[in-house]
Amino acid sequence: MEIMLSTPAAPQLGAMREQLDTPALLLDLDRFERNSARLASGIQRGGVAWRPHTKAHKSPFLAARQIELGAIGVTCAKVGEAEVMVENGIRSVLVANEVASGPKLDRIARLQDRAEVFACADDPYHVELAAAAGLAAGVEIPLLVEIDVGMHRAGVAPGAPARDLARLIDRSRGVRFAGLMAYEGHVLTLWPATVKEAAAREAIGLLVDTRRLVERDGIPVDIVSGGGSGSYTATAQIAGMTEIQAGGACLMDLFYADECHLAEEGYEFALTVLAMVTSRPTSDRAIIDAGFKALSARDDVPPRPVGLPDVTVTTLSAEHGYLELGPGAPDLQIGQRVELIPDYSDTTTFRHDQFVGLRDGRVERVIPLLARGRLS
Ligand SMILES: Cc1ncc(COP(=O)(O)O)c(C=O)c1O
Repeated sequence: MEIMLSTPAAPQLGAMREQLDTPALLLDLDRFERNSARLASGIQRGGVAWRPHTKAHKSPFLAARQIELGAIGVTCAKVGEAEVMVENGIRSVLVANEVASGPKLDRIARLQDRAEVFACADDPYHVELAAAAGLAAGVEIPLLVEIDVGMHRAGVAPGAPARDLARLIDRSRGVRFAGLMAYEGHVLTLWPATVKEAAAREAIGLLVDTRRLVERDGIPVDIVSGGGSGSYTATAQIAGMTEIQAGGACLMDLFYADECHLAEEGYEFALTVLAMVTSRPTSDRAIIDAGFKALSARDDVPPRPVGLPDVTVTTLSAEHGYLELGPGAPDLQIGQRVELIPDYSDTTTFRHDQFVGLRDGRVERVIPLLARGRLS
């Protein structure tokens, strides 16, 4: 049997939002750019560089736009994502993750002729594998030591254990000690701001104290990296940091707005999903064509319809979204488009092939998520 490949129908450039087929992942480009500029300036105010995490947008085009707006490079979670970024012109990429397979480290080694691609280590195992890959390729793979500063995900303990790993990298051939990194993901939702700031200072204090310990050995620590959208306001101000990985705030979602309190900082919802009412079975229920294959939802945080008072998403099944219409809700019509703010951008974007980039409500550009599915 011959397999026919079909590509999704591309929206017409210049088309209005109301003309778009659904479901569609929309990106308001003005908002994305304003959010990016706001994030860049908030970070740079602390004298720190911006290296946005691209795990949500997965797009070299949007990464390049962030670099135009002040970023020094990007952060990725996966080697495959880093490859897509480098293949499309991004010249500095931090894989903010331990890479524990020889073939993956060979791929990182191969990227070094076109870009500086950093990886992380929290165990001699990673250092030895990376050194072997670097030596085989005739390059030095730049490594950061990841430290656990309280999130209790990956990372070596701060202080002497991290310093010992830095020493090992420093004396190994095929790798280069480039610095330290930590992600203080456990502080993002703490509130009020003073509590979050104190927790960030405590966590990042462990990172910058370790920096001093490593430097006492005469080993330069060029990079001290960390920070996310929910913590950068505190972390970017801490002396001893050199770069911040926050990225999701450029898209914005309900998690960042409500749980990380970024709405108070002026960030705007740039990312939405456009759906269509396909059925009105009862006076208090409308069904849309976006279910959990187009949108994510945590049980307690459903996506939020834009500009539709008293309309609530109650359930997402695979291809259907259930809207409950309260007494103050508009009488939604079959065929009507509904725009929804996702609960979390990371778990929404990867369900789509492309962003439809809008400016002033019209399609300016279709932006593929080129690194989507690059999980290895
Ligand atoms: C290593 C690392 N850095 C930074 C971030 C923050 O990213 P964002 O600003 O997109 O929330 C995360 C979030 O998961 C992360 O895992």
